[in-house]
Order: sequence, then C-alpha cells, then structure tokens
Amino acid sequence: MWDPTVYHRFGDERSRPFHDLVARIGAERPRAVADLGCGPGELTAGLARRWPDARVTGLDSSPEMIGKARALAAPVAFDVADVHDWQPAPDTDVVVTNAVLQWVPEHRALIERWVRALPSGAWFAMQVPGNFDAPSHRALRALARSAPYAETVGEIVREAPVDDAAGYAALLTGAGATVDAWETTYVHLLAATGPEHPVLRWMEGTALRPVKAALAEPAWRGFRAALGATLAAEYPARNGYVAFPFRRIFTVATIA
Ligand SMILES: C[S@@+](CC[C@H](N)C(=O)[O-])C[C@H]1O[C@@H](n2cnc3c(N)ncnc32)[C@H](O)[C@@H]1O
Repeated sequence: MWDPTVYHRFGDERSRPFHDLVARIGAERPRAVADLGCGPGELTAGLARRWPDARVTGLDSSPEMIGKARALAAPVAFDVADVHDWQPAPDTDVVVTNAVLQWVPEHRALIERWVRALPSGAWFAMQVPGNFDAPSHRALRALARSAPYAETVGEIVREAPVDDAAGYAALLTGAGATVDAWETTYVHLLAATGPEHPVLRWMEGTALRPVKAALAEPAWRGFRAALGATLAAEYPARNGYVAFPFRRIFTVATIA
C-alpha cells in the first residue's frame, strides 16, 4: 500500500526530476495529456496549468493516492487504474510517467506498445531511478536476504528492474521515435535532525514499502533498526546533513 503522507516526505527532492523531465517536452498545444502513475497528483496539476486547453488525466493503481489527488480539485480527471491496462487515445499528444515504471517488470513491452499507438508528433517522457546499485539498495538487499528475514522478504527486493538511458534510447529508437536520453545524479542534502537516519526515512516512502507490508510488526521494527544502523555508517552526517547521491534515468521521445 502506498502512503501519500510518507511519500510526501522530501517532496522537493522527489519533485525535481519531474520538473527536469517535463522541461524537455516541447509540445505547445497538446489535445490530451496522460500522467501514468500520477501519485498524489500535485505534479499532474502542474501539467494542467502548463497546458490549460488540454484534457489532462492522471491514473494510479493506489486508491489512497487517487483519493489525495482528487482532493486537490484540479482540472484533471484522476482515476484508479493499472498502467498495464492503459492505452493512448487517438488524441494523446503527451504521456508522462515519472518514478513509476521501476515497479512494473514488463514495462519495456508496455512502452513499445504505447509508443507505437501514439499519434504523429506526440511526446513520451519517462523517468526511473537508477540507484539500485547504491549503498542504500545494496544494504537493503543484503539484509532482506539474511536470517531471519530471507524467508519472508528475500525474494521481494529487486536487483535492477530498470535499464540505463542507452537501453531505453535503443528501445524507443527501435520503435521509430526520436530520443533525448540522459542520466543525472542529484546529491540530496538531507537534514540529520531527528533520531532516525534520513535515508531510512526516505526509503520508507518507496523501496521499503513491500518489506514493511510483508513483515509482522516486531520483525519490521528489527529490520528497520538494522537497516538504519548500516545506513548511518554508509551515509554519515556532516555539518547537520547527510549527502544522499541519487542517480536517475530520463528518456523523452518524439513520435515521427
Ligand atoms: C514513486 S510514486 C511516483 C508518483 C508520481 N508520479 C511522482 O512523480 O511523484 C510511484 C507511483 O506509481 C504507482 N504505481 C505503481 N505501480 C503501478 C501500476 N502498475 N499502475 C499504476 N500505478 C502504479 C504507485 O501507486 C505510486 O503512486
């Protein structure tokens, strides 16, 4: 289950890649705009402000996220839906999907299907995290695969569910699109104020969700404490901040 409140922690740091992504979309008067995996909806509402004449839709498989999004009362049609079932309408001129497809193992086939169905001149823009080899994720995998957790969560932590930017560029040029692909490593400076390590608090909003959902409460408390200790060693605080490098992968495609 996605928790919009926990996900909103570090909102500035999480929204920056979205802004960097959509800044590279050159559409001027799109007819329909879709945000796939829109989360709590504020960023989708920004798309409606940018293109006020467009029919903007946001879909997400989490009813909690869509509940938050609808409460914004933005001029966006927010719906609970799974990206697997989504297909572009004939007038879909912009598709955005930010920090979502790493959760969808079959996303390469979906991207290819969507791009082939988009009208000429449409834009497809995606961003996925590329930090699965970072110390934070290595620590998560090592702990999940050790006793006493391995039996319950050893299989649910993912190795590397995304390609690099060159991989997505190859997929999209192969589908006939023109591609702008890049990678950025943001160095987030997270305030080390409270008793808990800020990288642990960050991970609770995303990568740790499936682990928390699978473990019973006492086991989850133990897991959290053990991971927090490793993260404190990997990401030490300096001058009241923890530097948390975060690589992200961007691809923007235009359809011929
Ligand atoms: C990290 S959040 C990103 C939210 C938003 N795009 C943003 O940039 O803040 C990932 C979102 O993807 C949604 N999601 C994951 N798998 C999905 C699927 N198969 N179909 C639709 N939404 C999905 C989750 O519910 C969650 O809201």
